[in-house]
Amino acid sequence: MELYDVMRTTFAARDFTGDDIPDEVLHRALDAARFAPSGGNRQGWKVIVVRRPETKKALGELCIPALRIAYKQLKAGEVYWQTATPTTVDTAAAAADDSLPLIVPLFAHLDTVPVVLVVAVDLGQVASMDKDLDRIGVVSGGSVYPFAWNILLGLRNEGYGGSLTTLVASAEPQAQELLGLQPHEAVAAMLLCGKPVRQLTKLKRKPVETFAFRERADGEAFTL
Ligand SMILES: Cc1cc2nc3c(=O)[nH]c(=O)nc-3n(C[C@H](O)[C@H](O)[C@H](O)COP(=O)(O)O)c2cc1C
Repeated sequence: MELYDVMRTTFAARDFTGDDIPDEVLHRALDAARFAPSGGNRQGWKVIVVRRPETKKALGELCIPALRIAYKQLKAGEVYWQTATPTTVDTAAAAADDSLPLIVPLFAHLDTVPVVLVVAVDLGQVASMDKDLDRIGVVSGGSVYPFAWNILLGLRNEGYGGSLTTLVASAEPQAQELLGLQPHEAVAAMLLCGKPVRQLTKLKRKPVETFAFRERADGEAFTL
C-alpha cells in the first residue's frame, strides 16, 4: 500500500474474522516497526506475542475494572480516565460493580481475538524529559508508542489490522505477573490484532486547521 493510504486507513479494528495472522506476517510487521524512533535510540521495547486463549482471556479480564470506571465517568459527563481535573466518580466502587455494562464488550472475550501483542518498555531505558514538571508524564511514552503504532501500520499494510489499547496498564502488576515481565518493564499497550471483518477507509478526524497554527498557539490557523 501507499504510505499515506496506510496512515489514513489504520483504524482501531476490534471485529475480527476467525483468520489467524501467520508468524511470517507478524514477523515482517515487527521487523519494519523496529525502525521506530526512541529517546537516545535505546529501543527499550519488548513484545509478548500471546496466542494462548487462556492468557488472552485473562488479559481481557484485567481490563474490566478500568472499563467500568470509564462507563461511570462517561455517565457523569466526564472525559474518562483523564487526570487534569479530579473525577466525581467513586472509582473503587465502580471498579467492583459487576452490574455495569462494558463499553467495549470485546474485553470480556479477548480469547476470540486472533493475536494479542503486549508491548512493554524498560523504564530504565526511556527518556523522561518532563519528569520534573507538575503534571502527568507524557514524554516517556514517546519511546514506545511510535513503535507500537508502527506495528499496526505494518499489519494494515499486510491486509490485517488491530487496535492499540491501554486499559491493561491499569492492572500492570497482574499483567506483569501473568506474562513474566519485571517490575521495571512497564506495560505500555496491548494490541488486539487479526483480520478485520471490514477494512474501514473513512476515519473521523479533525481537519488540520483545527490543530495546527502558524508560529504560536494563538497564531493563524495553518491553512493553505
Ligand atoms: C493511547 C491510546 C489508548 C487507547 N486505549 C484503548 C483501550 O484501552 N481500549 C480500546 O478499545 N481502544 C483504545 N484505543 C483506541 C481508540 O479508541 C481509537 O484509536 C480511536 O477511537 C480512533 O478509532 P478509529 O481509528 O477506529 O477511528 C486507544 C488508543 C490510543 C491511541
